[in-house]
Amino acid sequence: MKILAIETSCDETAASVFLSPRNVLSNVVHSQKIHSLFGGVVPELASREHLERINAVVAEALDSAKTPLEQIDVVAYTDGPGLVGSLLVGRTVAHTIAWLAGKKTFAADHIEGHALSAALKWPGLCPPFLSLVVSGGHTDLIVVEAGGKFRYLGRTRDDAAGEAFDKVAKLLGLKYPGGPQIENLAARGNPAAINFPRPFMRSTWDFSFSGVKTAVLYYLRDIPSYADGKGLRSSRKIGPRIIADVCASFQAAVVETLVEKLIRAARFTGIKKISLGGGVALNKTLRKSVVSAAGVEGLKVFLPSNEHCADNAAMIALAAYHRLSHRRH
Ligand code: KG4
Ligand code: ZN
Repeated sequence: MKILAIETSCDETAASVFLSPRNVLSNVVHSQKIHSLFGGVVPELASREHLERINAVVAEALDSAKTPLEQIDVVAYTDGPGLVGSLLVGRTVAHTIAWLAGKKTFAADHIEGHALSAALKWPGLCPPFLSLVVSGGHTDLIVVEAGGKFRYLGRTRDDAAGEAFDKVAKLLGLKYPGGPQIENLAARGNPAAINFPRPFMRSTWDFSFSGVKTAVLYYLRDIPSYADGKGLRSSRKIGPRIIADVCASFQAAVVETLVEKLIRAARFTGIKKISLGGGVALNKTLRKSVVSAAGVEGLKVFLPSNEHCADNAAMIALAAYHRLSHRRH
């Protein structure tokens, strides 16, 4: 079954031609740059840029896969969750292509794509496994079950992990997306310099990172050179040493919380295979911490390759493939 998948849920315009997890024929991603000027994704601008780019991205995905449209069996697209206008562009294009070429469509779930994405690097990864999806909009702890079902253990209550990275970056006067910049600055800082709270919330599997973000805000506000009433620009005056320590200490608080909950969930469910997905899964400190904690616990870790962490259409094709394969059995 050859799938053409389209992903437009947020600020990546993406398309992929997919045969199986072992055989992804193309994976084209256009990342919109315009949002860096605004400190976050501007929904209206995102939909407009999807409209401008989608045809070229789909054509490139088919070309580089050397696959004419006639050979496609299913046109899959991200049906949600995501920005309404952005989703609408992908859905309309998918339905139009399918209608013109006489193909079937499949409405895929974005989070299921992230949860499964490690299987694109590790095609032998079979359910059940526990997947932690850490992206800009979601922090979800999901059991990928053997029968093709997804059981959500915990979800984001407020700021998702990536959103907290982006908002802390904004407080520090850094551009969107903040995650990679915080990670770079953190490499020069001391993760034990500031004791930001770890929101473990032991009575639930849900996540909440807005308190850590607020703790960073209060810490910065108490520095006289930051709190001079000039807002974001004044963060430059606090100096590179403190900025690096804030980044390292904030990152440590988020990573420790994520890893602790993931490992506890593995213990609770008895599942021995764990994986990550989503843009924050690019974070090297998170990846290393998961690997070392899993080693102590005797768990097998399946990390997605970098190209499959942030939004992409190969994972959407995989989500469709996964559901369709289970439907047939
Ligand atoms: O999965 P994704 O591309 O989009 C959503 O579905 O939301 O994730 C984007 C998020 C952004 O919040 C970005 O700051 C974060 O992933 N991110 C990172 C890193 N690279 C991207 N966060 C921490 N460390 C990184 N290296
Ligand atoms: Zn995503």
